[in-house]
Amino acid sequence: MEDRASSAATRCADPVTPRGIFVAGTDTGVGKTFVSTGLVAAAARDGRRVAVMKPVAAGAEPTPDGLRNDDALALVAAARCYAPYADVNPVCLPLPASPHIAAAEAGVRIELPPLRAAAARLAAGADWLLVEGAGGWRAPIGARETMADVACALGLPVLLVVGLRLGCLNHAQLTQAAILADGLPFAGWIGNQVDPGMARVAENVAWLTQALGEPFAVLPWGTSDGRAAEVFREAFATASRRLAQL
Ligand SMILES: Nc1ncnc2c1ncn2[C@@H]1O[C@H](COP(=O)(O)OP(=O)(O)OP(=O)(O)O)[C@@H](O)[C@H]1O
Ligand SMILES: [Mg+2]
Repeated sequence: MEDRASSAATRCADPVTPRGIFVAGTDTGVGKTFVSTGLVAAAARDGRRVAVMKPVAAGAEPTPDGLRNDDALALVAAARCYAPYADVNPVCLPLPASPHIAAAEAGVRIELPPLRAAAARLAAGADWLLVEGAGGWRAPIGARETMADVACALGLPVLLVVGLRLGCLNHAQLTQAAILADGLPFAGWIGNQVDPGMARVAENVAWLTQALGEPFAVLPWGTSDGRAAEVFREAFATASRRLAQL
């Protein structure tokens, strides 16, 4: 583990595109897809050609066209941009479990170069590429590799979705530290309230702002569609400005 972490800072690839972002979360189920689809839809409404990618997905249903994952389909629908599914979601595993278990179950070894090649193809036809990770930052995808290796292979700045609930201050700090230790730019963060009963949300956000910087957006629990559209429009504009400065 130490070898992996200590060698990480020097091993990240150059950005696969200058206009891309990797969406990571403090955990699984913290709203990466919710935030990603919101940002992508805002970008599409702004007239951008947006490419989306869910490089590794665990949990998929058989369809007449092959296995399909809900997150990948949601991203494609939000982007309103055609791309071959095999590029959007190159590793689509049926078992809804940790990707390393789902991959072993399917007899798949996840290789990084094909993921980068697919991202490059997607980015070539787009103004903007958004990539959604799976699980948390160090979710395993193989015997030694984790989602951090996927992000590193793409070389993209990381947007962290902080799932606002008890424990998120620790998770957010640890995840940011790991992103930086792994050698990728930390683009910024979006707070997303995933626990409707969370106490003292504003105080938690204030602490996170001190630790991580100003958020691109903070989304309350149960954000309505209309309000979410406006918040995501502003969040996309802020994220674009920030990316241009990196
Ligand atoms: N702000 C919110 N208010 C209410 N429900 C939310 C909010 N954000 C996310 N959810 C719900 O929480 C669930 C998990 O969100 P989402 O699927 O976006 O998480 P994720 O981080 O993408 O998970 P995964 O690790 O499986 O990809 C979904 O059912 C989503 O609709
Ligand atoms: Mg998701």
